[in-house]
Amino acid sequence: MSEGGYVLQARGIGVRFGGVRALTGVDLGVRAGEVCGLIGPNGAGKTTLFDVLSGIRRPERGRLLLDGTDITRRSPVWRARHGIRRTFQRQQLFGQLSVADNVLVAQEWRGGGGGPAADLLALPPRRARERERRARGERVLADCGIGALGASYAGGLPVGQARMVELARALADPPRVLLLDEPASGMSAPERDRLAEVVRRLAEREGCAVLLVEHNVTFVMELCARVVVLDLGTVLAEGSAAEVRANPLVREAYLGTS
Ligand SMILES: Nc1ncnc2c1ncn2[C@@H]1O[C@H](COP(=O)(O)OP(=O)(O)OP(=O)(O)O)[C@@H](O)[C@H]1O
Ligand SMILES: [Mg+2]
Repeated sequence: MSEGGYVLQARGIGVRFGGVRALTGVDLGVRAGEVCGLIGPNGAGKTTLFDVLSGIRRPERGRLLLDGTDITRRSPVWRARHGIRRTFQRQQLFGQLSVADNVLVAQEWRGGGGGPAADLLALPPRRARERERRARGERVLADCGIGALGASYAGGLPVGQARMVELARALADPPRVLLLDEPASGMSAPERDRLAEVVRRLAEREGCAVLLVEHNVTFVMELCARVVVLDLGTVLAEGSAAEVRANPLVREAYLGTS
């Protein structure tokens, strides 16, 4: 466990795109069992920070720690295997696959056991494992309120349902850290309620550390005990939802415009 009790911690993160400083000296951590909100205006650097945390972008400066151990140079695959999962602001589903298969592939990294021979021969233990994985996928889809969509093609879904499938895929194998980039955008009110319920349960019951980017400030304030505000690539404020809401700098940079 790292300093401050953080499961995942970013220290002094810096990222540039040519002349644009997307992130400068960003410190942020998330603890087991908490839902931490990450808000800020367009272009503040929220998605860039998620890319750094999930390993798809290497920062020029700073370090990342998982349970206090440096993972800055670890690949996205390594991080996913160690329980750091995410969803994307621009959805990244496998559109040609069914919803059930989208959730199934997220469990395949563990392999089937028995190697290629077992694959070719479809040996009984292999079939049993696939059944277990399909059953888990069905449970996760049902929890996310999309149990009826298993056979649908992911590419044909409306945006709110597609976001729910991305969430289900991130939960297919229990995450330790979950990074959600605008998961409620495009969702109907009942879908948003379901999302809030799933995220809350994941944190409270399973001890997952959740970091949530969202422009719907009411949604963030209701769901997150702690909120971090990014502006122009730096942390502008951090505190309880009430503290952040009352902060004049935050109101000026962000809340006043929403
Ligand atoms: N691939 C890229 N190439 C060049 N500049 C980029 C790239 N990705 C992001 N940026 C720039 O980095 C800054 C941070 O962008 P980022 O997408 O992280 O912001 P954000 O807080 O997620 O915004 P939004 O709320 O609109 O999603 C912006 O100035 C953006 O234009
Ligand atoms: Mg973004």
